[in-house]
Amino acid sequence: MSRTITIVNSQGGVGKTTTAVGLSRALARNNNKVLLVDVDPLTTLNQRLGAPPAQRPTVYECLMGESRAADCIAGTAWGVDLMPATVELVKFEAEGLNLDRRDTRLRQVLSADADIQMHYDYIIVDTPASMGLLTVNALAAAHEVIIPIRCNYFASNGLASLLAMIGRVRQQLNPQLELRGLLLTHVDTELRAWQRNLDEITKVYADTLLPIPIVEGDGLDECYTELANKLY
Ligand SMILES: Nc1ncnc2c1ncn2[C@@H]1O[C@H](COP(=O)(O)OP(=O)(O)OP(=O)(O)O)[C@@H](O)[C@H]1O
Ligand SMILES: [Mg+2]
Repeated sequence: MSRTITIVNSQGGVGKTTTAVGLSRALARNNNKVLLVDVDPLTTLNQRLGAPPAQRPTVYECLMGESRAADCIAGTAWGVDLMPATVELVKFEAEGLNLDRRDTRLRQVLSADADIQMHYDYIIVDTPASMGLLTVNALAAAHEVIIPIRCNYFASNGLASLLAMIGRVRQQLNPQLELRGLLLTHVDTELRAWQRNLDEITKVYADTLLPIPIVEGDGLDECYTELANKLY
């Protein structure tokens, strides 16, 4: 059975997609079969993986009940498979509101296909910088959630609301959902303010902070390898 890990933060540019890709590649290098699922209409995952623009069907058709997950998945040059999105996915935020089981459609898509559950060791879900229906679906489908936070003055902006939302999803939709931790990203120890920023975050969130920080710039691969080795 696969383990589904959702990467989430309603703040933009904090390293969600970078973490989804970095962690996936590290897990694949450790001989795991990994599926990346793009739940962000910006479709950054496609670009980062050097994949061509997605052909139909995509995550959108799956969520609308018009396609099966297996029909969307494509291999990539990086040794991980991708269930891609197109900009059309943004329509689900509005259209999905009228559907039954609107919050658990991604879980249904991923769990309905026994082959996917048997084939992949890990399913990693990248999400948009919002707390809308797509993000709810990504949380409802997950075994665990990782929250990348950028090590700066604004790190905890919106974090309390996000944690409350994760709590609601756990209570109402997905009792197994585990908060795996906050992942510090963009850590630049050359910056004068970095220790102060870290102290501010640690003061409130020490218990949930993951032990491997992701450095700024070079060395990303090593950081994600270390993270994968430590957590999985
Ligand atoms: N540790 C890092 N060091 C240096 N640059 C990074 C690091 N992590 C991410 N970046 C860069 O920061 C930018 C934002 O990262 P990323 O796209 O992963 O964030 P995101 O949270 O997915 O953003 P969005 O909310 O727009 O989806 C990208 O240009 C990425 O290459
Ligand atoms: Mg992103």
